[in-house]
Amino acid sequence: MSIQLDSHTGVAGAVHAQAERDTQDALSLEVTLCGVRFRNPIVLASGILGLSEEIFARLARSGIGGITTKSCSLQPRVGWHNPTIVSWGHGLINAVGLSNPGVEVMVEEIRAARRHLQPLGVPIIASIFATTIYDFGTLARYVSEAEPDLIEVNISCPNLDAQHEEMFSSNAYVSGQVTRAVKRNARCPVVVKLSPNVDNIVTIAREVANNGADAICAINSLGPGMVLDIESAKPVLANRTGGVSGPAIRPIAVRCVYDICRALRGMGVQVIGTGGVTDARDAIEMILAGATCVGVGSAVHARGLGVFAEMTAGIADYMRRHGYRSLDEFRGRAL
Ligand code: FUM
Repeated sequence: MSIQLDSHTGVAGAVHAQAERDTQDALSLEVTLCGVRFRNPIVLASGILGLSEEIFARLARSGIGGITTKSCSLQPRVGWHNPTIVSWGHGLINAVGLSNPGVEVMVEEIRAARRHLQPLGVPIIASIFATTIYDFGTLARYVSEAEPDLIEVNISCPNLDAQHEEMFSSNAYVSGQVTRAVKRNARCPVVVKLSPNVDNIVTIAREVANNGADAICAINSLGPGMVLDIESAKPVLANRTGGVSGPAIRPIAVRCVYDICRALRGMGVQVIGTGGVTDARDAIEMILAGATCVGVGSAVHARGLGVFAEMTAGIADYMRRHGYRSLDEFRGRAL
């Protein structure tokens, strides 16, 4: 599948015109996540786009609030064979297998991303993945050398090699220990990404919060699921199963964000609400459920980078209609 970039012409112009109107209205979409300022709450979710000079330049023009890198591991990972990402009609199913060039290359890529994006006030969240608690700590130390604004700890990928790897986020104690190891080694705030594929996501969220998580990203993809090609009678993914994402999972994501925000109120832990967010309405829903930032993934596959400017324009319009001047005025209103 090819990713459409800048599918909406005049995106940059529209973003600037909108920003000017918002300044006149004294309306601000700015948020602060763990002490880091974002020009708006919309953040690219992990694993959606590769990092290249061309993509940084396009992201910078897209009006995005922040970006999350692909999860990196200590050593390079080849990942699963193609096809790895397939659209099934109501979203995507993916089994990429956390392919990445390893932390050494990623440190250089994050440094390059910073050169493009930080002057524009676009923070970078470096995502990390490891198969042991110890390696998570080591990775946090290495990736900190690139000076990302935050580190995302991916303990929730549903596409692991069942014989050798474990989804840590299904076990509260282990999730807490991973968080502790990363916190000990990180030189910036830490966001832990949780899975919806558990009995009680709040139990896991509380444990990572008690072990020092500064924020929680909820949720990773659902599943694993399976889609069959009825002509060949085979699964559409080479890995057979994969994580399900896109509009179909949004109500589950909203419920998880709502439950976590309600349960952890007063603990000072913020939430990035991710899962099936496709337009401004969906982003507003996440903020009403308590999210500080909103992650966008599958929608970029479907609609290109123009989706970011459309979302921020739609949020600003909602704020004007309701007389809000900042996101603080309606964040968590549904709680
Ligand atoms: O297969 C993958 O790379 C998926 C990663 C994730 O969902 O975290």
